Amino acid sequence: MPLPPGPTMSRAAQTAAWMARPGPFLFKAHREFGDVFSIRFGAEPPWVVLAHPDAVREVFTGDATALHAGKANLVLLPFLGSSSVLLLDGPSHLRQRKLMLPPFHGARMAGYQDDVRRIAREHIASWPRDGALTLTPRLQAITLDVVLRVIFGVHEDDAELDELRSRLRRMMDGMMGGPSLLALLALGPRRSDQLGVYKPILKPVDRLLRTQIEARRADPGDDVLSLLLAARDEHGRAMSERELRDELVTLLVAGHETTATALAWTVERLVRTEGGWDRLRAGGEEYAEAAGKEALRLRPVLPVVLRHLQRDMTIAGHDLAAGTVVACCIQLVHRRPEIYPEPGRFVPERFLGPEPQGGTYTWIPFGGGVRRCIGAAFAMMELKIILAEMAGALELAPARDEMEATSRRTITLVPKRGAEVLVGPGVRGAVS
Ligand code: HEM
Repeated sequence: MPLPPGPTMSRAAQTAAWMARPGPFLFKAHREFGDVFSIRFGAEPPWVVLAHPDAVREVFTGDATALHAGKANLVLLPFLGSSSVLLLDGPSHLRQRKLMLPPFHGARMAGYQDDVRRIAREHIASWPRDGALTLTPRLQAITLDVVLRVIFGVHEDDAELDELRSRLRRMMDGMMGGPSLLALLALGPRRSDQLGVYKPILKPVDRLLRTQIEARRADPGDDVLSLLLAARDEHGRAMSERELRDELVTLLVAGHETTATALAWTVERLVRTEGGWDRLRAGGEEYAEAAGKEALRLRPVLPVVLRHLQRDMTIAGHDLAAGTVVACCIQLVHRRPEIYPEPGRFVPERFLGPEPQGGTYTWIPFGGGVRRCIGAAFAMMELKIILAEMAGALELAPARDEMEATSRRTITLVPKRGAEVLVGPGVRGAVS
């Protein structure tokens, strides 16, 4: 079956463009080829990129047994383990997902807010009050502590808290770069897993997680892990020890840097928007949430979500062969002028008011369908609370006028300079 048309440059040139400048590469191909186009890179099967919300709806509401997502995440196998909800497809995926959803239900978020607020407040209080700050690592430290407290149920007086922090950080860094990532790319995820390439990093993490699982089993709390321990599938079965370990690592990996990145972009855009920081300060959590949504529209943390076709299918009027990858393009859907007038401008007000913009298939930073991000409500709750805490405590201005370029960190798109800001009384007067 012929693929929809797309850029004609070589596979190597497309790979380089996708790795180095995914945004401009996608925007250019969209301008040239329209709402459905094909791209090729690396050793990947061909990708068919979808830029229209109707096509995205077809995929998100389509037959999940034919539209697999787990394969796209295989590179994470050595870390997450084979029971991870991110890696599974079909009935086993649905079972894990059903067991994991209840703790992340919107209504439960209210119960976690106080912990998030306290953690954010303590961290922000320890930040310097004068000079230049790179926000990303500081925001990551906040969201890591949120995962440890709210998801794993670790308390401040836990003797292993510091070790958990540093071991998990090392695991995340190993995953995002360095020699072990090269080994992973050279050997492939399955061989790396079999050969235990990551054992030195993972063994201590697994030991610490086992201790936490046992502690929560003996004395359950209000955290996500305690709820996962109590969860039963339709046959009355609980998650195995292995499944619990894999899902805890999955929640950490899926939820910690993504949320910190969304926060970093929100600040990066707000401080460069005339009156943006003042409106945040005046608008409280409602405005903070709208700003977070607008940042996720304009600077989505993940530019695409992928589905591997398990059989021949017709999508957006195109006949596609089994083996093709369809890429629901978050970045292109979010830039459609008929949905978001002046799409390149950062306007949090789009998400305020009686008829806010953004809908089920037009605002898709969290993907959709049976694979939609489990932590979406959790992430939005974190975004609004942490931003509102920052606004209440800090005067911020951009460290430089030019906006931060987008840089790739494996699959996520992050602000290149780590969201550099100036902090201190009067800084906003100092920068034009
Ligand atoms: C701003 C922050 C976040 C963004 C932008 C984000 C984005 C995404 C996206 C795009 C997907 C794939 C959806 C699809 O394939 O249709 C996903 C899946 C997932 N996310 Fe998030 N996420 C964020 C935060 C979180 C948090 C805080 C958690 C948990 C604590 C989390 C847990 C998950 C899990 C478990 C999945 C896999 C769902 C499945 O395969 O069924 N994410 N996320």
